Amino acid sequence: MSTFDQIYLSTERLILRPLSESDAPALFVIFSDARIMRYWSTPVWSALSTAEERIARNARGMSAGEVLALGIFHADGQRLLGTCDLFRFDAQCRRADIGYGLAFGAWGQGYMQEALAALIGYGFDNLALNRIEADIDPRNIASANALLRQGFRQEGLFRERWIVAGEKSDSAMFGLLLSDWVAAKNPATAAAGSPAILLVPPAAY
Ligand SMILES: CC(C)(COP(=O)(O)OP(=O)(O)OC[C@H]1O[C@@H](n2cnc3c(N)ncnc32)[C@H](O)[C@@H]1OP(=O)(O)O)[C@@H](O)C(=O)NCCC(=O)NCCS
Repeated sequence: MSTFDQIYLSTERLILRPLSESDAPALFVIFSDARIMRYWSTPVWSALSTAEERIARNARGMSAGEVLALGIFHADGQRLLGTCDLFRFDAQCRRADIGYGLAFGAWGQGYMQEALAALIGYGFDNLALNRIEADIDPRNIASANALLRQGFRQEGLFRERWIVAGEKSDSAMFGLLLSDWVAAKNPATAAAGSPAILLVPPAAY
């Protein structure tokens, strides 16, 4: 796998780039907010050093080609809005996981839709991925909708897969194939009845 530390993606309103040490305070503000961390895989961050360590760890992972971790910045003024990552790459199966989070004040404006489209496009077009997976809390409706907007399908539910700060939670497993992505870009070849926005109620299982 190649190194990722020079990757820089731009969209209509956003710039996606690796975080640097100087971004730690802004990253800490985002991930020390309990509203963001309600369904996250770690407890709320309580020290700036967690942000500094995360940036340093991601920089090492980016150099090694093990993680593609990008900050999402507003193109005007470079304000940090959130992060999106591809990680857990499997070279043989051309597969990776995706994760993402936005500052509370940036919700409801389509920023993640724009960022995920760029990251996923990069994964399929430049990294030759065949499949991207996401593991989310089934109660996280906003996250499910973010995935469904990109064409992901919900493929299963793993019970009590996480224990975060003593709370057990299930995982709704989502997948997006290269063939789904290509078909969505070319609606003429897409299967009829592609999945509509659906709010994954846990009771459906
Ligand atoms: C998951 C998360 C990123 C979704 O954020 P979001 O703001 O709902 O998603 P988007 O940025 O794509 O915005 C989509 C919303 O903006 C609206 N919107 C407003 N202006 C828009 C525009 N110009 N373009 C597109 N959508 C726009 C859309 O209608 C949609 O609203 P709706 O959900 O009410 O229909 C956010 O809830 C979050 O960060 N949660 C905490 C972290 C988390 O749980 N991450 C996932 C764990 S794996």
